[in-house]
Amino acid sequence: MGEAILSRLLSTHTYSPDRIIVSHPRSERRDYLQSQYGVVVVAENWQVECDILLLAIKPQQLFDLEVTSEVDQISCNLLVSILAGCSLERLADAFSTKLPIVRAMPNTPAQVGAGMTCFACNDLVTEDHKQRVKNIFLAVGEVLEVPEYWMDAVTGLSGSGPGYVAVAIEALIDGAVMMGLPRSVAQTLAVQTVLGSAQYLQTTGIDPALLKNKVTSPGGTTIAGIHALERHGLRLALMEAVKAATLRSEELDR
Ligand SMILES: NC(=O)c1ccc[n+]([C@@H]2O[C@H](COP(=O)([O-])OP(=O)(O)OC[C@H]3O[C@@H](n4cnc5c(N)ncnc54)[C@H](OP(=O)(O)O)[C@@H]3O)[C@@H](O)[C@H]2O)c1
Repeated sequence: MGEAILSRLLSTHTYSPDRIIVSHPRSERRDYLQSQYGVVVVAENWQVECDILLLAIKPQQLFDLEVTSEVDQISCNLLVSILAGCSLERLADAFSTKLPIVRAMPNTPAQVGAGMTCFACNDLVTEDHKQRVKNIFLAVGEVLEVPEYWMDAVTGLSGSGPGYVAVAIEALIDGAVMMGLPRSVAQTLAVQTVLGSAQYLQTTGIDPALLKNKVTSPGGTTIAGIHALERHGLRLALMEAVKAATLRSEELDR
């Protein structure tokens, strides 16, 4: 995810390479990042001195004293963390100085600039900080500020959602293969149908129920399909998926 953000920050010209320092412990990764992106790359976290520190290590590394003491030595004015399930309080505890901290939750489509990032702030974060954080995440898609207590539900929807959509698309493809379409054709149709429907809802801003009503003619094919979806509990399954992922996120945060 760190590389996805780096790559989009550069390709959208949000930052020029000379304004970014990347810290990575492995020399092959450092060589790759340096040659691919032309940014300054360092081997030790304590070597970094920056305005905004974007923390993109694994969440469990926040419990590794060696890593946190290294990161704690970084001089910065604003900490932005993308660590899933790491509360603002836990992030603040990992640092000896009191910092403005932003907890952000991007999702995988960020890698192609179509991500959804929600972020929450501690009370030291200013409007200027927020604007700069928005600029960073606008490079990878849409951005929304939320209260921190929404973060588990955000994880249950936009954080885990790409997985639900992948399973739904896979099932649509299998259904079409079963009904005689070649898999590659079915994949093109399924992906474009999901993308187009989402784009339609985004562009028009209409309620999804209205789109459903528009496409269901009396006695037609779509209402027959929707009847099958309802009979097999798709609606309940999706609601349960968001609930289960939200509860799991709450559990991991403890
Ligand atoms: N992937 C997503 O879709 C997604 C979505 C939302 C949030 N996140 C969050 O983003 C963070 C990264 O996730 P990821 O999926 O990108 O995992 P990842 O691929 O494992 O990225 C973590 C990177 O940190 C490097 N690293 C390890 N120790 C380090 C250290 N001491 N100092 C600096 N860098 C170090 C790792 O190096 P090695 O390659 O040597 O291990 C790896 O390149 C996680 O906290 C995750 O919760 C990810």
